[in-house]
Amino acid sequence: MFHPLRVREIERLTDDAVAVTFTVPPALRTTFRHTPGQHIALRRTVDGQEIRRTYSICTPATDDPVLRVGIRLVEDGAFSTYALKELTVGDTVDVMAPAGRFTLAPRPGQFVGIVGGSGITPVLSIATTLLAREPHARFCLIRSDRTTASTMFLEEVADLKDRYPERFQLVHVLSREERQTGLPSGRLDQERLHTLLPALLQTDAIDGWYLCGPFGLVQGAERALRALGVPRTHIHEEIFHIDNGAAAPVPAATAPAHSTVTATLDSRSGTWPVHDGESLLEAVLRNRPDAPYACKGGVCGTCRAFLVSGEIRMDRNFALESDEVDAGYVLACQSHPATEQVELDFDR
Ligand code: FES
Repeated sequence: MFHPLRVREIERLTDDAVAVTFTVPPALRTTFRHTPGQHIALRRTVDGQEIRRTYSICTPATDDPVLRVGIRLVEDGAFSTYALKELTVGDTVDVMAPAGRFTLAPRPGQFVGIVGGSGITPVLSIATTLLAREPHARFCLIRSDRTTASTMFLEEVADLKDRYPERFQLVHVLSREERQTGLPSGRLDQERLHTLLPALLQTDAIDGWYLCGPFGLVQGAERALRALGVPRTHIHEEIFHIDNGAAAPVPAATAPAHSTVTATLDSRSGTWPVHDGESLLEAVLRNRPDAPYACKGGVCGTCRAFLVSGEIRMDRNFALESDEVDAGYVLACQSHPATEQVELDFDR
């Protein structure tokens, strides 16, 4: 469900990125309380067309949190262009309550973030909350940006260094700029991480790895970690940008000629036909426009639902952890029926 929130502040972070802060009225404070690492979906309607995008919350989770997101301009991005060029203080934007499972509830231990570009946004919230709330936690941030000028939240990260010199470690790699600190420039890819990580950390002593950014970086980091023997359960991922060609959808298996989806949403259920080729989300949306979604690309996880019965085929999944898939959760936007009847529960 979307709530209209007023824009309280817009701060320019770089030439192509802003931080937008929303005013949360007292009646919605509980709704908008977030766990560090979560995102919110924003909605805008242009010429009758709805545009939805998810953006990660960059602020720490406190008792009275500030709802602030980082938005970077994406080429031809319908929402980011609007956010950077048109949005002004006092405007109202439809905002969905925080969601997402790329989270870290503060606990003692040693954690690492590997981020690229705007992937810093949720990890900044994670690291800031963790270090403030848990005196026995340490965080190492390995970030990759094109240049210093294009780096989002430079000051906030520098502030963490000043505040927690013993417990916060920063490695900043710039792909298009030489650094004076001795760190070579260049991309943070699988090969480089495979060499860098063991030199920097005792990889088997890390309690959680948080990878966030473009598909290529996250995939490279995951492969490097797996090659270093890091268990899959210690790796958490959030992908920000994905080219359509980056991960080919699973080829269509034999689909039933006619199928129906039964969906429960806000305690109300209905059964509807699924048209040829459409996703379960599309079938549900035709009848229940309040069904949750944002990216429709298998990335944000907003459309997560529990598969009560039947079988489905998922095109791609960059949002659900393997334990969620094992527990029976699916992404409705990527799911197609593999049996004549499929039942989803969006409330679980
Ligand atoms: S709507 Fe984003 S994963 Fe389905």
